[in-house]
Amino acid sequence: MKEEIIVTPYGSNAGKKAEVEQMFDRIAPRYDLLNRMLSLGVDVSWRKRAISHLKPTQPAEILDVATGTADVAILMAKNLKPQRVVGIDIANQMLELGRGKIAEQGLSNIVSLETGDCEQLRFDDCSFDAVTVAFGVRNFENLEKGLSEMYRVLRPGGRIVVLEFSKPYVFPIKQLYNTYFKYVLPLIGRLTSRDMRAYTYLFESVQVFPEGKQFTDILTKTSFQNPICERLTLGICSIYTATK
Ligand SMILES: C[S@@+](CC[C@H](N)C(=O)[O-])C[C@H]1O[C@@H](n2cnc3c(N)ncnc32)[C@H](O)[C@@H]1O
Repeated sequence: MKEEIIVTPYGSNAGKKAEVEQMFDRIAPRYDLLNRMLSLGVDVSWRKRAISHLKPTQPAEILDVATGTADVAILMAKNLKPQRVVGIDIANQMLELGRGKIAEQGLSNIVSLETGDCEQLRFDDCSFDAVTVAFGVRNFENLEKGLSEMYRVLRPGGRIVVLEFSKPYVFPIKQLYNTYFKYVLPLIGRLTSRDMRAYTYLFESVQVFPEGKQFTDILTKTSFQNPICERLTLGICSIYTATK
């Protein structure tokens, strides 16, 4: 059996969850700016593509797990016209910025954010028509527990959409991207976010995170049906969808 390699932001004894919370609280003020800058704005099109998978089912109630500064929750409120979107995250500084964006865009009647851990969701079974998570699963301390909780709160027939980094495989994109991702991006991240580890952790965590079939197998193991993987931008990112 393949041994799971655990990468944490700071390598302390605090545990991955506590470190991840600390890291995102720390980088929150620069998080959106760095997302746009480091992806050259492409992250917006990845998020749009991910939520487009929910359009055919027109979900009324959506849970956005690891919502961060609420970019996906806001996009869904605008593009999918749901009745309500609830975003949860463990990092309060990220949520505070998200709340500001939601109020600014007049979406407070649809989108609400709350502190919450994906491994222990406070919601009843079968509470949501869809569950989304963008760039969150890689940061979970216990991936299968998080996915199982998402499965539990989904209504039968509901859909999960996961957006996560993966590794490009095409020569010479793979080599060029790896140089950028391993050396250039952490340097810009260090200078801008003032966190020495956050953007090195980003590279390291993507290297060890399951992708493609490995990830769809985990979705199957956590009871989801018909998992599908769609690779974006030559494999830099992947969208996974599945149903309950
Ligand atoms: C890279 S950010 C993604 C934020 C947002 N979804 C986006 O697309 O920009 C990852 C987020 O996952 C959150 N997170 C990590 N582990 C979590 C957990 N166990 N429960 C809830 N949120 C978690 C972090 O606090 C952070 O805000």
